[in-house]
Amino acid sequence: MLSSIKTNVIQDSPSKKLAMMYFRVALVLFGAQLLMGLIAGLQFLYPSFLYGIFDFSVSRMVHINALVVWMLYAMIGAVYLMLPDETGVRVPVAIGLGKLAFWVLTAAVTVVVLVYIFIQVGPGKESTIWFINEGREYLEAPRWADIGIVVVVLIFYANVFFTYLKGEKTGIMTVMVADLMALAGLYLAGMFFTDNISMDQYWWWWVIHLWVEATWEVFVGALAAYGLIRVINAKREIVEMWLWIEVLMLFGSGILGLGHHYFWIGTPEYWWEIGALFSALEPVPLVAMFVHVLYDWGKEQGHADAHGKGTAIANGPVMAWISINAFGNFLGAGIWGFFHTLPQVNIYTHGSQFTAAHGHLAFFGAYATILIGMMYLGIQDSYGIHRMKATFKSKMAMFLITFGVVGMTVALTIAGYEQVLVERAELGAGWQAYFTAQNLPWYIQAQIWREIMGVVTFVGFLYLVWDLLTIGKTAKAAEEA
Ligand code: HEM
Ligand code: HEM
Ligand SMILES: [Fe+2]
Repeated sequence: MLSSIKTNVIQDSPSKKLAMMYFRVALVLFGAQLLMGLIAGLQFLYPSFLYGIFDFSVSRMVHINALVVWMLYAMIGAVYLMLPDETGVRVPVAIGLGKLAFWVLTAAVTVVVLVYIFIQVGPGKESTIWFINEGREYLEAPRWADIGIVVVVLIFYANVFFTYLKGEKTGIMTVMVADLMALAGLYLAGMFFTDNISMDQYWWWWVIHLWVEATWEVFVGALAAYGLIRVINAKREIVEMWLWIEVLMLFGSGILGLGHHYFWIGTPEYWWEIGALFSALEPVPLVAMFVHVLYDWGKEQGHADAHGKGTAIANGPVMAWISINAFGNFLGAGIWGFFHTLPQVNIYTHGSQFTAAHGHLAFFGAYATILIGMMYLGIQDSYGIHRMKATFKSKMAMFLITFGVVGMTVALTIAGYEQVLVERAELGAGWQAYFTAQNLPWYIQAQIWREIMGVVTFVGFLYLVWDLLTIGKTAKAAEEA
């Protein structure tokens, strides 16, 4: 008998309500991220746009910090979403404290964002690091907020950890609990300050790289495993077996793959070989994750056909976003990452628009996609829906956002290619070469296309919000009719 929903899903849990609170803030910050991206993109085309009022350095900073923070919000939300189902514990051990932590974090984030927008920069003094921003790309939060974040995350982690201890211990949850410890612990590496820029960058990369290429990847592996069980009733033994293999491979290549950021920052030369070898292996686990999703998906199809029924997908949008995730992670991180990971190539591509192309497709493909999927799962549970189908709006959101980001990536790849040929290879990578290359038509046209595709992405985002606000009610009404 093919049932569309695994029986032990606890739809009505305060943990899931808290998850929805996190998802809502994540969505608002996602919108802010895109608007800032559009401003920054426009400043490539009109360098005087908002100059002196809201400089490129500021719009870019808010763009990428909002990116990191909305993803962390959605990740915490996803953990609160899966916690009751995986542990069998309906109410997490300290749910009240968990809610308090949410409000404290949200208040702190609001203050930080207002300071970024209205105060922007401070003098080169210790007080700026404490109260305005730390100046570390992606993690600019001032130190008071850093410390606050650590406290809030400790509360979140304690809640997850003790609930896990109290309940059932599935493989998925065990991986999640261990991974979260590493993920949270790594944040500390970005908190100490030295005047030596090489040392500062050395530790900063521990957070950035070991997040996105090790701990976050394991995180999404666990989410995909959980999602596939819920949505296509994938066999737990199979998804968990894949998950353990992925964990082994992700950490195996991701940890020393860190070396691909140590090529040119003043670190010893042995990093060339280490970084080249291990980071070149990083696409391997990404292929495994890709195969994993398609394998489970195909198996489920075959199963359904054998029973002469259509596939019973418990949540259409979730399955679609998980599939986009499998492709996006592989392409954005695996392929676009691999392109520039060898020092022989990176010496030409380093810090070019090629890097930006990879950054966009990887963050989107590996993380934005599956986190959006988790939001749909949250809606299914909060409305107590048995089966949720994709609507026209869900499809528009998927299509426009994905098409927009892929379009931006292609445009930026062309800009990067032009930079490599003209600025780096032909003109020798000097200061003047940089500006010459930026004023050639290939580069300018690419930047125009990036902005157009950015608008497409934004329209897709509007569909996404519209869909998320309405799909639950519609699906519930249809089910009751
Ligand atoms: C989902 C996973 C990944 C994400 C989100 C991601 C994101 C990024 C971002 C945002 C940057 C730019 C950092 C900066 O501002 O300086 C970057 C740089 C880089 N990434 Fe990734 N990446 C991922 C996976 C990978 C993988 C698997 C590889 C290699 C196979 C890779 C290779 C590189 C390299 C070599 C750089 C340095 C580029 C330069 O020298 O300018 N990345 N990545
Ligand atoms: C409305 C759509 C968007 C526009 C117009 C846009 C525009 C921009 C611009 C102009 C920059 C600065 C690039 C530079 O310094 O050369 C940037 C950086 C970045 N954006 Fe976006 N963006 C958009 C959406 C996104 C999305 C959806 C993601 C990921 C989910 C993302 C992730 C990033 C990252 C990681 C960087 C830093 C890249 C690096 O340092 O190499 N952006 N974006
Ligand atoms: Fe990396």
